[in-house]
Amino acid sequence: MKHKIKPRGSVIAALDIGTHKIACFIAQVIDDEGGLEVVGVGYQAAQGIKNGIVVDIDAADKAIRQTVHTAEVMAAEVMKGYPLRDVIINVPGSQAKSHNLSAEIQISGQVVTEQDIRRALARAQDQVLSDNLELVHTIPVLCSIDGNTGIIDPRGMTGDKLGVDIHIVTGDLSALQNMATCIDRSHLDIIALASSPYAAGLASLVEDEMDLGCTVIDMGAGMTSFAVFQSGQMIFSDSIPVGGWHVTNDIAHGLTCSNADAERLKTLYGSAIVSSSDDAELIDVTRLGESGSDAIQSVQRSLLIGIIQPRLEEILELIKSKLDRSGLGTSLGRRVVLTGGASQLPGLRDLTQQILDKQVRLGRPIRLNGLPDAVSGPAFSTTAGLLNYVVSRSHEMPAEIMASVDSGSLWDRFKYWWKENW
Ligand SMILES: Nc1ncnc2c1ncn2[C@@H]1O[C@H](COP(=O)(O)OP(=O)(O)OP(=O)(O)O)[C@@H](O)[C@H]1O
Ligand SMILES: [Mg+2]
Repeated sequence: MKHKIKPRGSVIAALDIGTHKIACFIAQVIDDEGGLEVVGVGYQAAQGIKNGIVVDIDAADKAIRQTVHTAEVMAAEVMKGYPLRDVIINVPGSQAKSHNLSAEIQISGQVVTEQDIRRALARAQDQVLSDNLELVHTIPVLCSIDGNTGIIDPRGMTGDKLGVDIHIVTGDLSALQNMATCIDRSHLDIIALASSPYAAGLASLVEDEMDLGCTVIDMGAGMTSFAVFQSGQMIFSDSIPVGGWHVTNDIAHGLTCSNADAERLKTLYGSAIVSSSDDAELIDVTRLGESGSDAIQSVQRSLLIGIIQPRLEEILELIKSKLDRSGLGTSLGRRVVLTGGASQLPGLRDLTQQILDKQVRLGRPIRLNGLPDAVSGPAFSTTAGLLNYVVSRSHEMPAEIMASVDSGSLWDRFKYWWKENW
């Protein structure tokens, strides 16, 4: 089910619109296997966006234009003076919903055709699709013929009943429409959508992790989203509307300081786990609304960490309960990869290991060439993964099948483009 890779020399671009930052990567296809070389990057603080939702179109539009412009300037030689037009964007975890569905159709002793697969997929999709949902991903997990499971591609096989198990990700249509309006005002065309945790996984997991079972946790500013991979596919995803921003906010409240100071304290002295030496270490906090020497107060570092740790425990406990309730059981695997800007707090890996009882490692983008150091950290896993997504869509149904399954979609232009170009 491999797709034709975009020809060598083609340019693709990703726009990651987050709560904390907006980032744009422009890359060129450098070989026939879909290898990508990053040729332009831009990023800046997000504006007009809250928890992945556009709350101020003008501010968001301006921030998107500036970010894209920075990336375009860096990629000028490769872009040959043409402005960037086509972008792949992320669907934030808060807007994406994961559904695992099964459907069965009669094929009455005939050979399975693409038409049959379309019918089976449409029957499965019908169970969830509605007017206010947009289809983001349709990932076939497995097919069965007459109850014989484990079939990857049933085309050409014969039987009476064709079954499909699929993982569908849907997005909230009105939130996506607002995002589309913003992108349109920036004179950009959305050519593909990918959910944030899916992209984060594609960027940071090694193939064995995707095959054997692994959960990627993308801890951002406004939310923490996660996706489970198994047998090379994403089989589940979900999110929690809590992230690094909430940790900063807790510090600002707890130590009565500004958000900017709280962010600085978190980054410089923060940790996910209190250690015995933290009582002895004193840190300076500038009290909110005060000035001069009276404004500075020394507090034990353990106080700061005592504010951070419960919030992180809460996030991890919520993830644990969502994973437990997913019904995935052993398919979850034994591994967790932590990524996203907020995953950089020292000690978070150990805390995650304790609460989720899995082997945990920190993840960052590993599948792009030429990524500048400044954007090679965990905060940019989703951005990088949006590019990886375009060259790894072989995980999903072939375009010729999907194009006729999702109907009435906002993204028809994308599907047309996809069929024509890949
Ligand atoms: N060194 C660090 N230590 C701890 N936290 C950090 C560090 N650097 C960044 N962060 C936190 O990471 C968060 C930003 O992460 P990221 O860039 O992944 O968010 P985002 O993608 O914009 O947000 P979201 O995905 O939630 O919409 C902020 O809350 C910030 O405080
Ligand atoms: Mg993010």
